[in-house]
Amino acid sequence: MDPSAPPPLVVTGGAGFLGRLLIGQALDRHPGRSVTSIDLVEHPVVDSIVADIAASPQVLAPVLADGPVTLVHLASVVSAGAETDWTEACRVNINGLINLVEQCRASGHRHTVVFTSSVAVFGGEFTASPTGDRTKQTPMSTYGMTKAVGELIIDDATRKGFIDGRTARLPTVIIRPGKPNLAASSFCSGLFREPLQGLECPLPVPSTTPLVVISPRTAVDGLLRLTELDGATLGPMRALALPGLAVTVDEMLDTLEAFGGAAARALVDERHDAGIAAIVTGWPGQWDDQRARALGLQADIDLGSIVRQFIDDHLAP
Ligand SMILES: NC(=O)c1ccc[n+]([C@@H]2O[C@H](COP(=O)([O-])OP(=O)(O)OC[C@H]3O[C@@H](n4cnc5c(N)ncnc54)[C@H](O)[C@@H]3O)[C@@H](O)[C@H]2O)c1
Repeated sequence: MDPSAPPPLVVTGGAGFLGRLLIGQALDRHPGRSVTSIDLVEHPVVDSIVADIAASPQVLAPVLADGPVTLVHLASVVSAGAETDWTEACRVNINGLINLVEQCRASGHRHTVVFTSSVAVFGGEFTASPTGDRTKQTPMSTYGMTKAVGELIIDDATRKGFIDGRTARLPTVIIRPGKPNLAASSFCSGLFREPLQGLECPLPVPSTTPLVVISPRTAVDGLLRLTELDGATLGPMRALALPGLAVTVDEMLDTLEAFGGAAARALVDERHDAGIAAIVTGWPGQWDDQRARALGLQADIDLGSIVRQFIDDHLAP
């Protein structure tokens, strides 16, 4: 075996939005790398285990048995979905992670595990501004609570030597292709994606709302960088805020207009939703990401570059 070859890559949630992109970028960097997706649905290209990560205590065992792997854990119930089903959110996001750690531990190898957390671990009046890696988590949603618990599990399992864990606190990822999903932040992608294709998009929060955003490619670059870091450089607190752009919804609307004209902006319909607004306006609008930047992770240049990326990847003929 080539000693410089990267370890096998295992991706839970590999058939989802970030999972597919991450697997594609990992294979671009290392063609021929062993990659396995574990998801409720099949991945179209790589080896797939179609399974519920929280249901079976043995689901990962076959891919962990032969030696250390890099495991990127993306499978999750997302934000508004978690808010409406507390039991399912805890089952998948907490029990599923414990299940994963237990299987890593039982395998007898120390696997590198990258967990995906979120800005939603912060919220409400206690959120410090700017928010950084050392800020106390104050989740004000069930989704954020499950991610905060996950961050602590990763730190503790790393301290115990069960895994070599790292957590990426992801800003809101825009622009997601396809249809709106159950994430409370779904509108952040929708307000570009829909009007640029001549469709209306409801805006559930005030246009002054500040947000921290990241493009899909930059988010996946950051996750892959986290897989390669020496975990010890992170110390005992493994959660790292990925560098993001601090913007307001008004700035997003201005950028939409710059690309799609006044007609595109007119398709955004301010239809406030108190439930979504309560979650999103509690998230930090500023992000101290100096620790990640010092480790070589980077943010997007500006909102325009993110819109250009979406047009090139999904709308260009
Ligand atoms: N996209 C964002 O803006 C964003 C922001 C912050 C954090 N995150 C986190 O990043 C991760 C990936 O996000 P995404 O946008 O790709 O989500 P996604 O919903 O597109 O993908 C998640 C995948 O997980 C799978 N999955 C869900 N429950 C499962 C289970 N019990 N067993 C096996 N597979 C299961 C789904 O089938 C899906 O393919 C999630 O953990 C999410 O919380 C995303």
